[in-house]
Amino acid sequence: MPQIIGVPKETAAGEKRVATVPEVVEKLIKLGFAVRLQSGAGEGANCSDESYRAAGAEVVATAAELWSGSDIVLKVGVPTVEEVGLLREGGTLIGFIWPAQNPELMQQLAAKKATVLAIDSLPRTLSRAQKMDALTSQAGVAGYRAVIEAANAFGRFFNGQITAAGKVPPAKVFIAGAGVAGLAAVGTAASLGAIVRANDTRAEVADQVVSLGGEFVKVDYAEEGSGGGGYAKVMSEGFQNAQREMYARQAREVDIIITTALIPGKPAPRLITAEMVQSMKPGSVIVDMAGERGGNCELTEAGKAVVKHGVTIIGYTDLNSRLAKQSSTLYATNLFRLAEELCKTKDGVINVNMEDDAIRGLTVIKDGGITWPPPPVKQAAPRPAAAAAKPAEKKGHGHGGGGPIPAKALAILFGVGALAFWFIGAYAPAAFLGHFTVFVLACFIGYMVVWNVTPALHTPLMSVTNAISSIICIGALVQVAPPLQDVAGRPEGWILGLAVTGIALTAINMFGGFAVTRRMLEMFRK
Ligand code: NAI
Repeated sequence: MPQIIGVPKETAAGEKRVATVPEVVEKLIKLGFAVRLQSGAGEGANCSDESYRAAGAEVVATAAELWSGSDIVLKVGVPTVEEVGLLREGGTLIGFIWPAQNPELMQQLAAKKATVLAIDSLPRTLSRAQKMDALTSQAGVAGYRAVIEAANAFGRFFNGQITAAGKVPPAKVFIAGAGVAGLAAVGTAASLGAIVRANDTRAEVADQVVSLGGEFVKVDYAEEGSGGGGYAKVMSEGFQNAQREMYARQAREVDIIITTALIPGKPAPRLITAEMVQSMKPGSVIVDMAGERGGNCELTEAGKAVVKHGVTIIGYTDLNSRLAKQSSTLYATNLFRLAEELCKTKDGVINVNMEDDAIRGLTVIKDGGITWPPPPVKQAAPRPAAAAAKPAEKKGHGHGGGGPIPAKALAILFGVGALAFWFIGAYAPAAFLGHFTVFVLACFIGYMVVWNVTPALHTPLMSVTNAISSIICIGALVQVAPPLQDVAGRPEGWILGLAVTGIALTAINMFGGFAVTRRMLEMFRK
């Protein structure tokens, strides 16, 4: 019996997003689910009831009908007490939950014997999980919109122009925090023609800023800001002082500041002081994306645009709702990718597999039992570039959460390996030893190559190795070349046929692999 996915109308004030869009409804139905929607749910995102109906969804009038009739509810905003009350006993809820900030909500959901998948708890460092990463998709849209809001409030062009009426200098934009939103802002501002500078406490993002057309401005203080898992840590007092000096310099020089700095679980770091705002040119703009968490700028008023010291300070907390169609489409796609992972059998019934790292990470309640926080993910986090500079802190920083292998165990392992190799060398045929040596070396090199590549680059790496694996093409080419005769001297048609088929298939692998790799690397380059 296929399960019913229900999508209610969002209830938070000003929330215009919706958890699914008509294009995705079709895909969910192809996965075997039935889809039900509350009337008007897609209104804010320009998706009419009619368009959902046309995609195959059933539209119901009230929230009560929707919640009570759905096995799985997809939501954007954190559910309210009333909504939890409507959730079917033992039902499944997927959406933003923020379990650390909402312990009471967790208790209420657990009391409902629900299974809850918090999309905000997805382990971000798993390359496989990127397609489901709604925090990333939403922050990307918000970063773009922050630049558009800044452009709207700013009284000049972004790009420099030489016109008959005079020369216009390009706008200078400074972006504080180059995470997902910050990088999207760098790319957007640069594409509008502004001079873009950015700063982040994590040195590893410098190259990404440059590749998006920005300039990375360093703080003159040696300290790495990576706190693991692609997130930042709180910096030392010394660093903060040096950073403040640099930010003060930038504030005097630039026209627009967009702040996106965030440290998970902590209030937003205060980066822009009132004096810095005062030192900016009149007509300048600050967009503070961290308004909801107290703001990166001292003068921000969350949810509002205010003018202080002649500077417009925008603290909107609904940047995603201001681009509701785009945000909803990306969010709906993230949830669809999750549904695919949950329903591999394509029969419209989900299986919350707690053995799967990604699913385990985002399942915060399973059948009424709170399963948050999850155990650490068994995969290497991206390596901070400066990690090597802090050997004293190596303890506990091993891969896979298991810590580094002790020297003694390594020596024993090495000894056993050498002994096994000697044994094989002494007894196996000579030809086998040659092949076996190549095999061992290949395993070693393959392991080292994969291990030393940032997880974010694993997908292009896989496609290029896929292309390289087409080396078997050489085998097929050798077979095409003469002598292709049977014992009677006639050409062996079937060898030729097989070899040509082999060449054709590996050619697809080879050219396809390189083409896909190129496209993916282009995405990083843009
Ligand atoms: P992220 O974690 O990907 O990026 C935050 C960046 O700030 C990281 O690169 C981190 O290293 C950097 N950072 C932390 N402390 C810093 C410091 N002291 N100086 C310089 N850089 C520092 O986060 P993401 O997803 O890019 O989100 C950015 C912000 O935007 C968050 O505060 C988030 O809540 C907010 N947001 C706001 C929206 C709105 O409508 N206003 C919508 C979506 C996100």
